Order: sequence, then structure tokens, then C-alpha cells
Amino acid sequence: MRILVIGSGAREHALLMALRNDPKVDHLVIAPGNAGTAAVAEQRDIDITSASAVTDLAREVKADLVVIGPEVPLVLGVADAVRAAGIACFGPSQDAARIEGSKAFAKDVMAAAGVRTARSEIVDSPADLDAALSRFGPEAGEAAWVVKDDGLAAGKGVVVTADRSAARAHAAGLLEAGHPVLLESFLDGPELSLFCIVDGTTVVPLLPAQDFKRVGDDDTGPNTGGMGAYAPLPWLSRQAAAGIVASVVEPVAVELLRRGSRFTGLLYAGLAMTSTGPAVVEFNCRFGDPETQAVLALLESPLGQLLHAAATGRLSEFGALRWRDGAAVTVVLAAENYPGRPRVGDVIVGAEADGVLHAGTARRDDGAVVSSGGRVLSVVGTGEDLSAARADAYRILSSIRLPGSHFRTDIGLAAAEGKIEI
Ligand code: GLY
Repeated sequence: MRILVIGSGAREHALLMALRNDPKVDHLVIAPGNAGTAAVAEQRDIDITSASAVTDLAREVKADLVVIGPEVPLVLGVADAVRAAGIACFGPSQDAARIEGSKAFAKDVMAAAGVRTARSEIVDSPADLDAALSRFGPEAGEAAWVVKDDGLAAGKGVVVTADRSAARAHAAGLLEAGHPVLLESFLDGPELSLFCIVDGTTVVPLLPAQDFKRVGDDDTGPNTGGMGAYAPLPWLSRQAAAGIVASVVEPVAVELLRRGSRFTGLLYAGLAMTSTGPAVVEFNCRFGDPETQAVLALLESPLGQLLHAAATGRLSEFGALRWRDGAAVTVVLAAENYPGRPRVGDVIVGAEADGVLHAGTARRDDGAVVSSGGRVLSVVGTGEDLSAARADAYRILSSIRLPGSHFRTDIGLAAAEGKIEI
């Protein structure tokens, strides 16, 4: 099988590493990729938001399957174009990708499917902002205001704060930029990410994971695209995970199908385990980053065959997934100043070690690997339990040098210490 992967992050590097282990996969192509992915796949530089560029490349490399990593090409309809060219594609249609592209659409689908989620209001005029803010946050008896960009913002469009002026400033800034604002009630309880391979109404869950969105230890500082993750979750029973599939993911898949927006790809449910049960924080239409790096490190089933089965309507025949025992932890090494404008162009030492996945990296003409983005590397550690996987990840990280870089030291720590309860 020949597979074209679209994207350039550590998520795509993790996908390639897992696809490479599938005995039925004999050729991998990545577009546009990064310095790390070039070592495992043929690398091609195209505009991945262009449906014709992706389709032409898929034809040229004779891809049997295209796997689309990031949300932007999906929301723009690239998967539709690939399928229309007669090539199997793992990734939802433009219609179905609205589950991530429009939070208002997602709320509507969840309401119709009877899925619990945060109470919300869309604000599209500055004149309505103050009254709407008063209906949320501490003024409505909740711990914080949750202010979101009603569109794609790579995780950075969200501000959660108990400070009304900070909530107002973020919302006003979004409105000024012409973006509708979504205000949501705050959901208490630990959060988790449940990735499900979906084809119509067939739903195959992967191991549940947890990511760390704030930049600093103890969940301090601004939101980022994700600073680390671990899987599986020692605090979530198998029955609880199965309950989420049955009460959240399957009803949403059925509702999308009922609306004519059949979902084929990875449906990502982000949930909070509140005191009154699971409630959805968000849905995404693709693999999450950095959770994928941890989840796929534990997958034993052949990923290429799994994604191809979903893309060709045969997911129900695939059978149960097999997983390695133990745990995996990924820690993101970020460039100086990230999530602000990152410092780039610095030489990275140790980036080729085992367990290191690349994101914002490029290869300079002299052969050196240099930083080229905010999240630079994902370091993945594995072990017999979460503590061992943490130790492995931080051991690998200690051998990497990048001037000004930073990382969180507490990825998976509370769970390893048994401090997460639901
Ligand atoms: N882990 C957050 C995301 O992928 O959106």
C-alpha cells in the first residue's frame, strides 16, 4: 500500500512511524513534512490547502490512501476532492468537518444527538458583549469565563479566566477582528481526549489520553496548541470509556449521517468528567496533537490497514484493536517565546534520537536541523506504567539542546501520583 500523509507536525511524524510498522505499507509520502519526517518518507512541498495540489500529488505518487492530518485542509474540502478523484481518503468531507470548523454547528449537532455539552451563546456584536458576559463565569456562579473564537484557532483562540476584564478583552479583540465569539459555561473536572476512528456509524475508539494546554507547569500561563500528553488514563475505567463512546461519539456520528454529513476519519471528542458525568468541551475532525504521539506509541494493530478500512467503508470488518501494555508520555519542546511569536533558526542538538518526533524543524543547507516553529519537537517516552514512561520521556529530553527552549515538567505527573479523581 502507498500512503500520502498531509501535514508537517509531530502528529504526522507519529502517523508515519506507526504506518511504517504496518507490513502492508510499502511506500510513504509526506507533504510538506519537516526535517524529521524526511528520514521516513518521500517528502514533497505543496500547498496542502489546495484541493487540486493534493489530488495531483496523490495521483502522481499513485497513492492508495491519503491521510489528512490538520483541520484546515479538511475544513476547506480537500478530502472531498481526493475522493472525487477515486482515491481513498482518511479524513472527513467539508460538510462533516464543520464539527470542528464551526462551534455553532457542533453545538447544534450535539443538541440534536442529546449529548451533554457546555451551555453557550454566540456573540457577534460588541453591543451585546457585556450583557452576555454577565450570564457566564463567576457572575453566573461558575469558576471562570470560557471565551472562544467560533472558528479554527489551533487551540489558541480560547481564554479561560476568572478575571472579567481579561475575558472581555479577549472577546472584544475577536469581535474587532470580525470573528464571532462563543461564550461557554465552565465545565469542572478532569479533561480527556477520546479519539475514535469513524466510518458512518461504525466507531472504533483508541486509547483515551489527556493533553496539557497551558504553557506552564500546574496549568499556568496562556493556552497553547498543546504542551504534552499521556495515554492511557489510569483514572478512567474501560467501562467509563465505553460509556463515552456509546453516549457521546456514536450519537454524534449517527446525527451527522442523518444530516447527510457522513463522517469518515478521526472524530476527536474532548470531554470534561464533571461531577454529573461526561460533558463535551469540543469535537475535532482529526487526530489531536500532541495526544496522537502518545496514543500511537502504544498501538500494535496495523495503522495503514485500519485507516484504509475506514476510508473504504470496511471499518466494521477490522476487528478489535491491539495495544501494548504500559503507558506513553509525550512532552513538547517549545521555542523561546512560544505561544507568542517564537524564536526560530536555532540549531537543535539531539533531534535525531529515538523517541523524538519533529514538528517545527527544518534542515539547513549545511545539514544542521534548526527550529522553524513554536512547537519544535515532541519527545515520546514509554514504560510499564506512567511513572516509567515519564522518566523515559524526560531522560530523552535531557539530551536535547535548543537555546531558549522550554517544556513542562509535570506532564502526566498528577495521574502518576494518583491525584486525579472523578
Ligand atoms: N490537543 C489539542 C488539539 O489537537 O486540538
